[in-house]
Order: sequence, then C-alpha cells, then structure tokens
Amino acid sequence: MTVIPRVLAAVAILASVLPFAAATETCQPHEFLYENKSCCVPKGSPPSPPPPPSGKSCPSSNSANWYWSDDKACCLPSSAPPPGNPEPSCPKGHSWNPFDSFCSPPPESNCNDGEWWFDDKKCCLPYGGIPSPPPPPRGSQCPPSGWYWHPEKSCCVPHTPPSAPPQCTFGWEWIFPIFSCQPLPTPPSTPPSKPSGVHYKKRTHKARNNQLCPTGLSACPVTGLTNNVTSDYECIDTQQELESCGGCSSVGAGQDCTAIPGAWNVGCAAGSCAVYNCMAGFRLSLDGKSCIAL
Ligand SMILES: *[C@@H]1O[C@H](CO)[C@@H](O)[C@H](O)[C@H]1NC(C)=O
Ligand SMILES: *[C@@H]1O[C@H](CO)[C@@H](O)[C@H](O)[C@H]1NC(C)=O
Repeated sequence: MTVIPRVLAAVAILASVLPFAAATETCQPHEFLYENKSCCVPKGSPPSPPPPPSGKSCPSSNSANWYWSDDKACCLPSSAPPPGNPEPSCPKGHSWNPFDSFCSPPPESNCNDGEWWFDDKKCCLPYGGIPSPPPPPRGSQCPPSGWYWHPEKSCCVPHTPPSAPPQCTFGWEWIFPIFSCQPLPTPPSTPPSKPSGVHYKKRTHKARNNQLCPTGLSACPVTGLTNNVTSDYECIDTQQELESCGGCSSVGAGQDCTAIPGAWNVGCAAGSCAVYNCMAGFRLSLDGKSCIAL
C-alpha cells in the first residue's frame, strides 16, 4: 500500500507551498475559512474597498457581498461560501477562476495593442478602422457615421467600439443578421399622394427605433462618466442579462441580480432574478428571489 504515503506526501508539499494552508484550525471567531484561497477572511466587508484592477472583476457589484482585496490580490466574499463551495456568478461574459478567486474576461478579448474586441462579430478590429476600406457590394450600405465595410468579414464594422446603434441613411435599414444596411422594401421616393404619406413616415421612424437593437434585445442607455444619458446605447437581452434583469439597469429599470444581498450564485431567467444559493448566514427565500439573513 504505497498510495496513502504518497497522498500524505502530496498534502505535505501542498501545505508547504500554500502559505495559508495551516490556517484551517486557527481562524478567529470573527473570521471564516475561505478554502479556495486557504485563508481566514474577516466576516463582513470593509467600508470602502478598492475597485478590482482592470481586467479583473468580482462576482457582485454589491461590495457587501464580494469585494476586492489588495492585500490578498483577489475577490473575497463577506461570508463563507454555501456548502459545496460552488462557483459564484460572474458579470456577463466573465468567468470565475476558482483558485485565483476573481472573474476575468473571456480569453478571446485579448486583442493586440491598437485593436479592440468586437463581440458582435467575435473579432479584433483596429482602432479607427482600416486605411482605405473597399465600398460595400452593390445593394448594401454601411451606416455613414463611424462604420466601414470589412472585406474579410463581409459586413459593416465600426471604427471604434460602438457607442450608439448603427444608423443607416434614410430609405435603408439595418439588418442585424447580415450586419449591413439594406434598402427598405418600399422606397420613400414613391410616397403615396394622399396624407397617408405621413403615416408612412411615422411607421418608418418607428421601425427605425425598433431597429436600434436586433429583435429581442433592448437598447439600454449607457451611463458614461461625462456623457449625458442620451445617445449611447448598448443592446441587452434583459430576459437573461444578470445585471439588467427585466429592464435596463442604467435607467433604473430591472434588477441587478448580482447585487442581491447574500446571494452567491444567481441567474436571470425570463427577465426575473433567480437565486440558486446564498452565502453562509443566509437562507434562500421561499420564492427563490432573495437571501434572508439568519
Ligand atoms: C473552489 O475550488 C473548486 C475546485 O476547483 C471549484 O470547483 C469551486 O468552484 C471553487 N469555489 C470557489 C468559490 O472558488
Ligand atoms: C446633461 O443634461 C442636462 C439637461 O438635459 C444639462 O443641464 C447638463 O448640463 C448635461 N450635462 C452634460 C455633462 O452634458
């Protein structure tokens, strides 16, 4: 039976490598053991924790649940994990690193210097676009302001990360699946002679507004640091988006599921937050939408 000694040896090596491994028995009453970082963590969260460094994020926008610790260089929960130490939820597109204890963006978003990640087309694009882009093929147009034809992708792409939805010229509409402007079925150059032309215009306008985002997505204003909430939008699926569940959080609608006090793993299903489990010291409410402090 050589297996057991080998396991013990492995544990001994691990213990000598991990500086906090001996902490198991020695956490103070006001602390709990955070196993994945093998350290004792004070219960509760500091009054004003620093923001996570760029490229890292914590599972909750509510620092009463999770906060960044410069000291440990990771995200720490304010209370012990639920039984089984499951993964916490990360912000949209980010994934949890169990041993590093922070959320990081998807690996494909690492573009070269001077490039940015265009998630809609899953590619890196040069800031400012390419030097002299070819014109779009006949029958297609790109939105005149800030977009150009990308020959390899065979679609229109923006010069810089889009701050506004694509706006085609009059008589053309944005067709999301092919990422270009296509002529409207009824050309506006032949308006009906009766005043119903007004209705046509109105309808076009409405169609244009609905076209801000592809079907099923909502155009949520982006609250910039300096910009007013007027022209910048992002397209969000408020039926599934964790931080804008059921409505655009930037305009105070919907709910930020990650901010539910005591929540550990949460989801947004059909526009409503679902809490899957709660931190130690909380229990799941009967309707499964919140955590109740014990
Ligand atoms: C802790 O580590 C285990 C093993 O990798 C992982 O399955 C679990 O999700 C982790 N939990 C946390 C909170 O990081
Ligand atoms: C935002 O809009 C308000 C009123 O619409 C205006 O008073 C304010 O100056 C604007 N702020 C900026 C930063 O443009």
